[in-house]
Amino acid sequence: TSDHLRHVDSMSILPSGAGRISKLNALILGDSLASEEDDLIFPSPSFSSQALVPSPQKYMEMYSRSIKDPAGFWSDIASDFYWKTRWGPQVYSENLDIRKGNIKIEWFKGGITNICYNCLDRHVESGNGDKVAFFWEGNEPGFDAMLTYSQLLSRVCQLANYLKDVGICKGDAVIIYLPMLMELPIAMLACSRIGAVHSVVFAGFSAESLAQRIMDCKPKVVITCNAVQRGSKIIYLKDIVDAALTESAENGVAVDVCLTYANELAMKKESTKWKEGRDIWWQDVVPNHPSACDIEWVDAEDPLFLLYTSGSTGKPKGVLHTTGGYMVYTATTFKYAFDYKPSDVYWCTADCGWITGHSYVTYGPLLNGATVVVFEGAPNYPNAGRCWEIVDKFKVSIFYTAPTLVRSLMREGDQHVKRYSRKSLRVLGSVGEPINPSAWRWFFNVVGDSRCPISDTWWQTETGGFLITPLPGAWPQKPGSATFPFFGVQPVIVDEKGVEIEGECSGYLCVKASWPGAFRTLYGDHERYETTYFSAFPGYYFSGDGCSRDKDGYHWLTGRVDDVINVSGHRIGTAEVESALVSHPQCAEAAVVGVEHEVKGQGIYAFVSLVEGVPYSEELRKSLITTVRNQIGAFAAPDKIHWAPGLPKTRSGKIMRRILRKIASRQLNELGDTSTLADPSVVDQLIALSDA
Ligand code: PRX
Repeated sequence: TSDHLRHVDSMSILPSGAGRISKLNALILGDSLASEEDDLIFPSPSFSSQALVPSPQKYMEMYSRSIKDPAGFWSDIASDFYWKTRWGPQVYSENLDIRKGNIKIEWFKGGITNICYNCLDRHVESGNGDKVAFFWEGNEPGFDAMLTYSQLLSRVCQLANYLKDVGICKGDAVIIYLPMLMELPIAMLACSRIGAVHSVVFAGFSAESLAQRIMDCKPKVVITCNAVQRGSKIIYLKDIVDAALTESAENGVAVDVCLTYANELAMKKESTKWKEGRDIWWQDVVPNHPSACDIEWVDAEDPLFLLYTSGSTGKPKGVLHTTGGYMVYTATTFKYAFDYKPSDVYWCTADCGWITGHSYVTYGPLLNGATVVVFEGAPNYPNAGRCWEIVDKFKVSIFYTAPTLVRSLMREGDQHVKRYSRKSLRVLGSVGEPINPSAWRWFFNVVGDSRCPISDTWWQTETGGFLITPLPGAWPQKPGSATFPFFGVQPVIVDEKGVEIEGECSGYLCVKASWPGAFRTLYGDHERYETTYFSAFPGYYFSGDGCSRDKDGYHWLTGRVDDVINVSGHRIGTAEVESALVSHPQCAEAAVVGVEHEVKGQGIYAFVSLVEGVPYSEELRKSLITTVRNQIGAFAAPDKIHWAPGLPKTRSGKIMRRILRKIASRQLNELGDTSTLADPSVVDQLIALSDA
């Protein structure tokens, strides 16, 4: 058994009752107990007794089965879904070892199903059609809407019929560039209903980024809206799409249809720029289509969606997820990690433009028949109490968000939280980056009134669903630790040689065997899939994250170990920002590193060398930042531009980022060995320009 398994056995002898409560009280009172790792926060006995997994023992029982008999474990769960034809004799087949040939992962192959059917029709047919599927809350307080499961199904069918009408068939790509209107999950579901492959592009990406994605997956249709108001700002999405479509057409990829939802709250239809023949108003066509639409039955291994994400090298990667395994995995992780009950009202603040919005706004919750809050606005608009106003309004019981939001609201003060009741809350969740213990405690004590366990879910676009997460009724928690693996997941920590390390340790986080929700390839580039994820440590999937495991077997994620930075839970490749910067005519060279940021987790710190003779100026600084905004999106704008007469390079010309990271974080006495640099004097020049 691995170390954490041994540990779980010892957990069963932990005391119950009074001992737990007094330890909990000590934490609530803010006493710091020994070290961070020793802090244990127990779920209340009343929470645990009603939980799906009420104890470490129950977890152990389920976890051991999932590892010893993955086929049996996952088939039992998969049997709860609707399959037109059951999968073949082999529940899964995999090769994660590059030395043994191509990487391959398949689950439920031969099984014929449809995820949209399982999200909607299945619930309507079993008599739950009148249950609320979505509560929608607009940017402006007071603007809201809702859809029951039956209504949602009709809307999805109308759009699906329209898409079929304009020629979308099974396997065709559709790009969705929408804000958090209900039309966004509707569009995702309409695609999956007819076997089309959706690719949602976060509506904060720039025209250039959108064009790049259009050129990569060549959709026949792009779905967007004319504009959206977020906080006090109006964003003209259609203009961005127009620019992207022009650029992709110039590069030989023409899109036939741009289906545009008229979001009249933000912008009048008449003011929207229009290209006859290509652009069409959603409201003019979709509602005229029949509200029933036949399902396109697909194989479990048929693609469901593509989602582009950043890597350590230039071009974004099209992460491809397939149908059956993703369906079973997102539904199961949602159910257990949030201890989901049919009476829950669930709100995840993520945008559907990211994986969290795919797996845990749309598919996971709907597969469970949950009631989901979809929020269009900004969490601090019109004031810092907005989230709790929404929680009280819809009686939200499960609230899932990112540490960056927790930290930014924490700064605004407890009064914004305390003026709302929040008594409906039962479970809290965190995702996107490590949650620092002080933010964890504030979330737990202030937002959750010390009642609600926090599921700190560690996962990635690639993993489809949670890999390491607390099960809220089972485990005592440690603030800042994602705790233990989900069923079927075998995380290992390896050293730089790829050797597994046992016990208390830190190193690179890998996974040893496949799980149903794993991505199957990078779109159009299986070789990059193999080299990026399976070559560094042969035999394993490498996550790109560092991790340590404490003496009790708890996992502590320590952040990316590659050239990816995590800004407000958004994943950004340093290479992407660098290539945007060097596209500026006055920039000769750029090197980007992440630095600790109080609210965003990491901030973007860019060292920039200018073309010979160009003087530093405030104006140029702004113009460099604008270039990044235009090429990637506002969320990738550097927080700091550091003028660099030269960059620290080895004699072979490799930039030494280690040194740049130290300069950026002002750890000047930890620069380490600079003697291998081609020109060690650049370091002093950089330090001298630190505050320029
Ligand atoms: O570094 C990890 C961090 O986010 C990365 C994945 O980013 P992305 O694919 O955009 O997906 C974000 C939502 C799942 C990981 O490699 N990360 C995500 N969740 C956590 C986390 N780091 C620590 N703790 C987490 N709970």
